[in-house]
Amino acid sequence: MPKERLPRHIAIIMDGNGRWANERHLPRHEGHRQGVERSREIMRACADLGIQFLTLYAFSKENWSRAKDEVSFLMKLLSNYLDVELREIHKTNIRFRMIGRLNDLPVDIQKKIRKGFEQTKENTGLTLLLALSYSSREEIVDAVKTIATEVKRGIISSDEINEKMVSDSLSTSGIPDPDLLIRTSGEFRLSNFLLWQLSYTEICILDKYWPDFTRNDLLQAIEIYGNRDRRFGRANELVAKVETHG
Ligand code: IPE
Ligand code: IPE
Ligand code: MG
Repeated sequence: MPKERLPRHIAIIMDGNGRWANERHLPRHEGHRQGVERSREIMRACADLGIQFLTLYAFSKENWSRAKDEVSFLMKLLSNYLDVELREIHKTNIRFRMIGRLNDLPVDIQKKIRKGFEQTKENTGLTLLLALSYSSREEIVDAVKTIATEVKRGIISSDEINEKMVSDSLSTSGIPDPDLLIRTSGEFRLSNFLLWQLSYTEICILDKYWPDFTRNDLLQAIEIYGNRDRRFGRANELVAKVETHG
């Protein structure tokens, strides 16, 4: 595929770990373990392809309401992942960032994340954004508060508030909106993920569970994306031409 048709930013809702395990009569934990392996593979594939930004939805704000032992297993898994993967991330010139409430996470994980962020901030390859304890509505509320404070202090007037200002007040500030959103395991919903940023994103819902998602599935989603006609509200150019000249 020509480089200009590649998505610049891919966002993924990595869903279906539990169902994958359930179908194999395994505990949900096993699905999460396999899921982490897939996320490693997909990150490398994106780096190899020259994708610039990859956002992985790893843990939502709402996921805290799962059973205690599932949540603590996920935190342990995340902690191990950061130990192993941050070294790999740095070695391969990947820039690491997170979006979501850092302070909700266990303190040891917070430290690892801060260290990873510092260590990799000058890297120039793929940027990996991990969404952890993330809620898009909460992120938007935070942005509203930031802007309201600036109005209150007289730095800007309320008439000056514009879309760019809102974008710049989100945790994804400076990062282009996703071009392609992939959700695995066949659910047709956004589950409080990047509600502002996905306004014009192409959505690709795949039936596979995340632990079965391979590099080939990624390539297939990119291919589907490449064949989409992104109109951003304009009329389809071919149809418009026929109507004017025909
Ligand atoms: C995604 O898989 C992982 C997280 C949300 C942490 P799920 O755990 O949601 O798996 P299903 O949807 O129950 O199959
Ligand atoms: C979305 O998956 C969150 C992540 C993939 C981390 P969920 O499994 O939590 O979403 P719902 O509950 O099916 O909407
Ligand atoms: Mg799920």
